[in-house]
Amino acid sequence: MKYFVANWKTNKDKAEVAEWQSKVSQALVKSDVVKVVCPAFPHLALFSKSDTWKLGAQTVSAFPNGPYTGAVSAEILREFVQYVIVGHAERRKYFGETSQSVAQQVQQLVANAMTPIVAVDDHNWAQQCSLLSDEELSASLIMYEPPEAISSANSSAGAADVESVKKAIQAIKQQFTVKGCLYGGSVNVENIQTYFQTPIDGVVVGNASLDPAKVTSMLAKI
Ligand code: PGA
Repeated sequence: MKYFVANWKTNKDKAEVAEWQSKVSQALVKSDVVKVVCPAFPHLALFSKSDTWKLGAQTVSAFPNGPYTGAVSAEILREFVQYVIVGHAERRKYFGETSQSVAQQVQQLVANAMTPIVAVDDHNWAQQCSLLSDEELSASLIMYEPPEAISSANSSAGAADVESVKKAIQAIKQQFTVKGCLYGGSVNVENIQTYFQTPIDGVVVGNASLDPAKVTSMLAKI
């Protein structure tokens, strides 16, 4: 099973969500690819349960329900989504998340029967994964993403080359038993095919996933 995860980040209004939904619903449906869309929290309610697209969130509280103003817990999210991205490089950079708080988020998600998509990079993957229990690891998809490969990164690095991604993912899988390992970072219509090879179990697409035409083209290629 391979995964195509659309990470919308902080984008779109209600009309744009509806436009994306209607255009993408005509896209080719392949049964061996799990498609997940991760919109902003309020937009989750605009999606109806569909077999074609699973729903995901972009973060979750490290705490359970209770007096935590502004936080959205795993218990709340589980009524809406099956997948949650945690520890994204942007969460670590702009919101001060640490591997420790990400491990708490994973714990909350697994306790509530959701699949964490745990974002890691070259420098923190071993430390991040070693903070998770065997049960948590085997319930998690690991998303390998060098921060400099993110499309908005202020660098000319671009997408990570497929050989280095394969090497990193092989190393992660050698040391830890996980549900799967995905690649994220500047995946687009041109390069998506190269990432759909063993041992890469799929991709997380940010910027290119906002455009329904690009999503349709990407899905046709995998
Ligand atoms: P990008 O983002 O495809 O825009 O590089 C991917 C991600 O960070 O989730």
